[in-house]
Amino acid sequence: TPARCRMRPLAWVGIASLCLGAAWAVPAKERRKAEKAKADLALYENLDLDNYDLTLENYGEILDLSNYEELYDYGDLVPKIEVGTLAPRPKDPVALPDQGTTAEIPKLQLLTAASPVHPAPSPAQALPSCLRCLCIGTSVYCDDADLEHIPPLPPETTYLYARFNRIGTIRASDFTGLKKLKRIDLSSNFISWADADAFRLLPSLQELILPENRLTALPELPRTIVRLDARLNRIPSTGLRPEAFRDLKQLQFLHLSDNQLDYIPAPLPESLRSLHLQNNNIQTMHEDTFCDSQDHSQIRRALEDIRLDGNPINLSLFPNAYFCLPRLPTGHFF
Ligand SMILES: *[C@@H]1O[C@H](CO)[C@@H](O)[C@H](O)[C@H]1NC(C)=O
Repeated sequence: TPARCRMRPLAWVGIASLCLGAAWAVPAKERRKAEKAKADLALYENLDLDNYDLTLENYGEILDLSNYEELYDYGDLVPKIEVGTLAPRPKDPVALPDQGTTAEIPKLQLLTAASPVHPAPSPAQALPSCLRCLCIGTSVYCDDADLEHIPPLPPETTYLYARFNRIGTIRASDFTGLKKLKRIDLSSNFISWADADAFRLLPSLQELILPENRLTALPELPRTIVRLDARLNRIPSTGLRPEAFRDLKQLQFLHLSDNQLDYIPAPLPESLRSLHLQNNNIQTMHEDTFCDSQDHSQIRRALEDIRLDGNPINLSLFPNAYFCLPRLPTGHFF
């Protein structure tokens, strides 16, 4: 598959990672495919990755907030490819770090064998994730790889990209023990169900990216979450737990546009900067949804990007609801 081919060129340029050892272990016949694979790598290099070099810190400043929804963050891909090109060529096997083949691979195979999700794995599923996917440092790229489940992941995984697959459910066991996982991007899958504990117990999770799925309820979130993107799902207000976001004191980006929400979720944490609820079914709100009507000195400097366009609500009916905001919400005032 394309995902397997892409893994090898990166190993050729000598990235010291789990994949390196895995690729070195494949038969010589397989390695002759490297010429084709090198062409794939050139594709990566020709991408204008600078445009994707966004971090949470500069997210708001450099982007027109009304247009950024289609951008993906490839930021962590860039520096690691550059580092890789400096490493020794694989023609010089003495220079290769040997921990990949001796130590890491058996560990991965164990993980695969122990995975309760795949009781009878097909030959492709039996491969360690770094053979099916592209591992760069602690980032795992499994985009467009025909996955139907979250694959077993190396314990050091920090960023997971499994976009454009056919994953339908997320089990509580899929991410257990992944203490360093900071970002999970499952854009454009078929996810209709996530176990309550699938994400809640991840101690480092900051970004959960789930647009273009089939969720009808939002999974529970850990308090470390900074960015939740569940655009383009089928979530009604009954799919949110009461006060679902109240205790998420790090939450800055809450993007639930193009769902079936009837209400603006409240209360919203003070940390929130961006609330996207466009294209839902919101008809009304409370005067206290954004601002505390008892405290007229209140200022919510952070919350500067509220989108309510594409909802039936008439924002003019709530004249005292916005006094604490740095900007009025977008939406219908007439
Ligand atoms: C929205 O509310 C304002 C204020 O009450 C009213 O003047 C206006 O006609 C309403 N617009 C619609 C489309 O109902």
